[in-house]
Amino acid sequence: MQVDRLATIRNRIALLCATAVCCGGALAAEPWMNARLPADERAALVLREMTQDEKLKLVFGYLGADHEQKKTKRPEPARNQSAGFVYGVPRLGIPHLWETDAGLGVASQAGPDVHHATALPSGLNTAATWDVDTAYAGGAMIGAEARARGFNVMLAGGVNLMRDPRNGRNFEYGGEDPLLAGRIVGAQIRGIQSNHVISTLKHFALNDQETGRTTLNVLVSEQAAVTSDLLALQIANEEGNPGAVMCAYNRVNGVYACENRWLLTDVLKGDWGFKGWVMSDWGAVHSTVPAANAGLDQQSGMPFDHADYFGAPLKEAVANGWVPQARLDDMARRILRTMFDHGVVDHPVAPAPDAIDSRKHAAVSLQDAQAGMVLLKNAAQALPLDRAVKRIAVIGGHADKGVLAGGGSSLVYPVGGNAVPGLAPTSWPGPVMYYPSSPLEAIRRRAPGATVTYADGSDRAAAAALARASDAVVVFATQWTAEAMDVPDLSLPGGQDGLVAAVAAANPKTVVVLETGGPVAMPWLPDVAAVLEAWYPGTSGGEAIAGILFGEVNPSGHLPATFPASAAQLPRPVLDGYPDANERRFDVDYHEGAAVGYKWFDLKGLTPLFPFGHGLSYTDFTLSGLKATVTDGVVTASFTVANTGKRAGKEVAQVYVAPVGARWEAPKRLGGFAKVEVQPGAAAQATVTIDPRLLAVYDPATKRWNVAAGDYRVILAASAADAKASATTVRLEAAAYDVHGKPLRTRAAP
Ligand code: BGC
Repeated sequence: MQVDRLATIRNRIALLCATAVCCGGALAAEPWMNARLPADERAALVLREMTQDEKLKLVFGYLGADHEQKKTKRPEPARNQSAGFVYGVPRLGIPHLWETDAGLGVASQAGPDVHHATALPSGLNTAATWDVDTAYAGGAMIGAEARARGFNVMLAGGVNLMRDPRNGRNFEYGGEDPLLAGRIVGAQIRGIQSNHVISTLKHFALNDQETGRTTLNVLVSEQAAVTSDLLALQIANEEGNPGAVMCAYNRVNGVYACENRWLLTDVLKGDWGFKGWVMSDWGAVHSTVPAANAGLDQQSGMPFDHADYFGAPLKEAVANGWVPQARLDDMARRILRTMFDHGVVDHPVAPAPDAIDSRKHAAVSLQDAQAGMVLLKNAAQALPLDRAVKRIAVIGGHADKGVLAGGGSSLVYPVGGNAVPGLAPTSWPGPVMYYPSSPLEAIRRRAPGATVTYADGSDRAAAAALARASDAVVVFATQWTAEAMDVPDLSLPGGQDGLVAAVAAANPKTVVVLETGGPVAMPWLPDVAAVLEAWYPGTSGGEAIAGILFGEVNPSGHLPATFPASAAQLPRPVLDGYPDANERRFDVDYHEGAAVGYKWFDLKGLTPLFPFGHGLSYTDFTLSGLKATVTDGVVTASFTVANTGKRAGKEVAQVYVAPVGARWEAPKRLGGFAKVEVQPGAAAQATVTIDPRLLAVYDPATKRWNVAAGDYRVILAASAADAKASATTVRLEAAAYDVHGKPLRTRAAP
């Protein structure tokens, strides 16, 4: 029956094409091409027309570039130097999947013919904005570039929690708190997908260090996982509705993430009701039958895996019944329904790179960068810089040339090329890349009457002498971090701590600008006047930094992660497996459970260098008038943010929650936040509603979030360790919520 219908369709299409009627036109009449039908129905209709081989093609992905060592060529229709490619079914109107990395812009595989694109600042920078609108705008921009480059899948949405500041990929992610990271990354995903480009959510799950990432085994309880890393992913999923989820390299409680039934089928597709498809990370598949039956829908990036598990072996496994036909149909159906649902079929992509307005896009990146830079210290109002000063010293960090980017698959090759080519490593996970947006030039433009002198910092004595002879000193310090490697410790590499110390000793007005992948230690902190954490600031980084230094933009970023005083304060003072654990299988025991970041510091009574949530402004704010109400078990906090200084600015008001006389994984959790803009001398009201799951304890046995009856403190603060925090108390009745935070009953049995 099915074969008959297939043959009829094929004949019809052949006839139409032969008579020069456009194939697309003929297909437009097919029922699954009817955009008014629900995605599920369209997927079911077209699936019925597909041969077994066509289904199998859809679940098997290739690297979109030649692989030198493995001697493989990219599939012919793949986009140049791209991360991935999957054959569609053109005869049925199902386009190929053209996949590009990643969350910071359209990345390129290294090679002779890279794409040039606009780079957002690092993910940590965007998280530090605490502003979902900024995150959305950045996502919309990079999604538009992906589309213009002919991609319909963007491998974005990285939201692995920062359990360790030495993780080389922290810069791609959203920091240490599940609520903040989930909301920010979710908004970015929504932005990307507003272009009819599918975004992933990754890496699923608990891939929180790079050392040994393909062999390590995370030990974590279900409750702790659901309350930490999985909660970040879940919130990003709820906010962003990503079309695909990328499963991770590592093992979780003994089972590889890409063949982990608990993660893929029970939690993701079951509990969360995820309707999209699960694709593997590039080289993260280890089997055919276990992976397919556990819930993996698509193998990605061949030749990265040891075998083409979802190629001929899957065909054989289905033929033998080891993988049910229904499972293969489900894999294909999930991919198809997502393509319909996200407009990938109805709005096919075609490369049109000339349509990219790079100037406009650079402005989007600039806004994001400036909203996320964090003024960590500002003694005696060293910043903003006075435009009238006569002699400004700019030192180190290649600030004469550009700004640093992180390395690995997410690397965006900038318009204009690498500003500092040739730095090691020049190959994977390099090249070390500096975007051609020079802070020195941007500073010079803002102080035309001053002599602005640059010293590269290689000669400490010369740098100190220049600092001594200057009225203002800005010293840049950089830390390159990258995929596939962690950093050894929290020190700035290459003796830069010594350089900063020498410069600060010569001139106490020294301002430090950090371009780092994440938290670093600052042994020189007491001796410098100001510190600006500029992360990896993206395409417009030099402009962004100078604009903040001179006060054109008032800094408003707040830390999305704790800056420890030293590695000794961390749950794992020594990183498991570091430095070279590539082939070794080892456990990483998340004994801290869900007490990640500030929660760990609270629990252990540790004082960090800078707490989560910290960030200064050129104006002053007070937070007051906190009131908390409970309606149907849901807590809402309202308060006033007053600007008592002389400049307009934005404050990040944070609402933490804590049970009285009881304890969760840690004394308190972030329950909500609001970034509020206030004019000088004015005040604004803000309201924050708290997701009940953040007041609850997850019970794996019943899959419920249970709120215990009792009193809860609601705390209004400007950081996780704010001495001026105020608090009020609410009383909650016992209540239970489902996995989505929906009430199961308003009143619990006594
Ligand atoms: C990374 C992914 C990336 C993929 C494709 C992997 O090495 O872990 O995040 O999307 O490569 O380049």
